[in-house]
Amino acid sequence: MHGRQETGVFIWVFNEKVHITQGDLEGKAVIVSWVTQKARGSNTVLYWKEHSCEMLKAHGKSKTYKFYNYTSGHIHHCTIKNLEYDTKYYYMVGVGQTERKFWFLTPPKPGPDVPYTFGVNGDLGQSFDLTLTHYENNPLKGQTILFVGDFSYADTYPNHDNNRWDTWGRFVERSTAYQPWIWTVGNHELDFAPQIGETKPFKPFKHRYCTPHRSSGSTEPFWYSIKRGPAYIIVLASYSAYCKYTPQYMWLEQEFPKVNRTETPWLIVLMHSPWYNSYDYHYMEGETMRVMYEPWFVKNKVDAVFAGHVHGYERSERISNFAYNVVNGICRPVKDLSAPVYITIGDGGNLEGLSTMTHAYYGWHRNQDGYAVDGDTMWLFNRIWNPIDDSSDDDS
Ligand SMILES: [Fe+2]
Repeated sequence: MHGRQETGVFIWVFNEKVHITQGDLEGKAVIVSWVTQKARGSNTVLYWKEHSCEMLKAHGKSKTYKFYNYTSGHIHHCTIKNLEYDTKYYYMVGVGQTERKFWFLTPPKPGPDVPYTFGVNGDLGQSFDLTLTHYENNPLKGQTILFVGDFSYADTYPNHDNNRWDTWGRFVERSTAYQPWIWTVGNHELDFAPQIGETKPFKPFKHRYCTPHRSSGSTEPFWYSIKRGPAYIIVLASYSAYCKYTPQYMWLEQEFPKVNRTETPWLIVLMHSPWYNSYDYHYMEGETMRVMYEPWFVKNKVDAVFAGHVHGYERSERISNFAYNVVNGICRPVKDLSAPVYITIGDGGNLEGLSTMTHAYYGWHRNQDGYAVDGDTMWLFNRIWNPIDDSSDDDS
């Protein structure tokens, strides 16, 4: 029988809103998170390798939070460590109560010749689920989602109705429980509402979602790095301080030299607010961060930058714009083969396949089309190992 007795009252402990993310720098750990309502329930995650009878255990912690007149359920986070690469694991939450079983695949050991497929998605909300359905139905089968921010849009409801965070967690569970989503925060995660006494930015996000920020030396969960397969992925925070001397600036300055392009040839950056955006919508909002960091991106030959925020799709050529020095008047984007391709994907989409060390196939699918229709495709050529001009190669 599931559930348990507490002071004569039968309490049903249901474990839901299950989601996983990478739990370390190298891809050998997974953070499992879930929520129980009413009672705390078990903190334990049971896990085992496919075809193995050896059941392993990890113990996590839980917490609750209040936001205005809302009180959250018990939010559990449990890190499973020392996993083997390229292995299917099953895991179970709700141990001893309402047990629920899921599975995930660990990535291959980071290296240049390990194909891997990422999905890229952002600004998902919960108005309709076409984006997620298209992603799930795509025959190329993404293995990890790079999520570029704006989760539930709870802040657009009266008093930032945090029940919307719960409904979003339920909505995406069918994906987040089975493959890691790499979290980037957007403006809709700020939840800064002094008018109702909520003065701590990112409170719901920080309680509900974990990132492996400490393993890359970051002091906050909003900016961090991971290696996954052939990619080194840097996640930046558009809504945390980033100017000179700030923690994010100091961290990023030290992060670039750590990237070993022989081990992880693909250097990808995620952020919420795009640097290059020709839409009227959110025009120039990413400009100040661009001014701060763009020289580093070009110097370190970032391959691609994914952003959300703008609810549309846009892909730049390889351009840069940092020659301006107050007196020379040079302030326009110029072609630059050391610069990343900037992709705004606030409408959902995917990056499919890193099949060799020097090429990555990228495809974007519009929600109004089926997954068989490519809205935009490109072969990205690696900026370190094969930095040829690929900017206008849009019909490979
Ligand atoms: Fe946004």
